[in-house]
Amino acid sequence: MSKVGIFFGTDTGNTRRVAKDIASALGSAVAAKPVNVRTASVEDMLLHDRLILGTPTYGEGLLPGLSTGNATESWEEFLPKLVGQDFSGKTVAIYGLGNQKSYPNEFVDAMFYLYEQFKQCNATLIGDWATDGYKFKASKAVVDGRFVGLVLDQENQKDLTADRLDVWLKTLTSTWDKNG
Ligand SMILES: Cc1cc2nc3c(=O)[nH]c(=O)nc-3n(C[C@H](O)[C@H](O)[C@H](O)COP(=O)(O)O)c2cc1C
Repeated sequence: MSKVGIFFGTDTGNTRRVAKDIASALGSAVAAKPVNVRTASVEDMLLHDRLILGTPTYGEGLLPGLSTGNATESWEEFLPKLVGQDFSGKTVAIYGLGNQKSYPNEFVDAMFYLYEQFKQCNATLIGDWATDGYKFKASKAVVDGRFVGLVLDQENQKDLTADRLDVWLKTLTSTWDKNG
């Protein structure tokens, strides 16, 4: 089976650091080296049956990219390339970084745009996450009462990140095993 593909967008590096932590937790026999989506093609993603995708939220509730003032292209520019692509039979798990204190009304919204696009591409979305333990007013990333993926807040809850990652990766691993 192909290795787990890890693709991330980032402006200030937090989402990249988490991608690296995920890769080292899974180990190099399981996970491919994380790739910044700025340098990736759709074909690169389609090489993997299992994907982990990371995004911060910028602007007010938007994907990272040039229009939100990021230094480089990112998910904003990548997502339109996915229109009409087929990810049938592939699992996609999303993690998102945001700041619940500064952006309580659009907390980790960008995750939702990845979720929506990959669903439209027929991917199987896995790795949803409870909203317990976060304090925010509204988030597009909450669907049916749960976040569409793992939520991390490096500004306000950095001390919780390692445990959250550990629990989430265990659920992904057991889902992959069941599908395997
Ligand atoms: C200008 C700016 C806008 C932001 N907008 C949001 C937002 O709308 N929602 C949110 O949850 N976090 C928001 N954040 C917080 C970032 O998502 C958070 O700092 C994240 O860790 C950055 O990830 P990166 O280092 O990978 O770029 C914003 C941060 C900045 C600097």
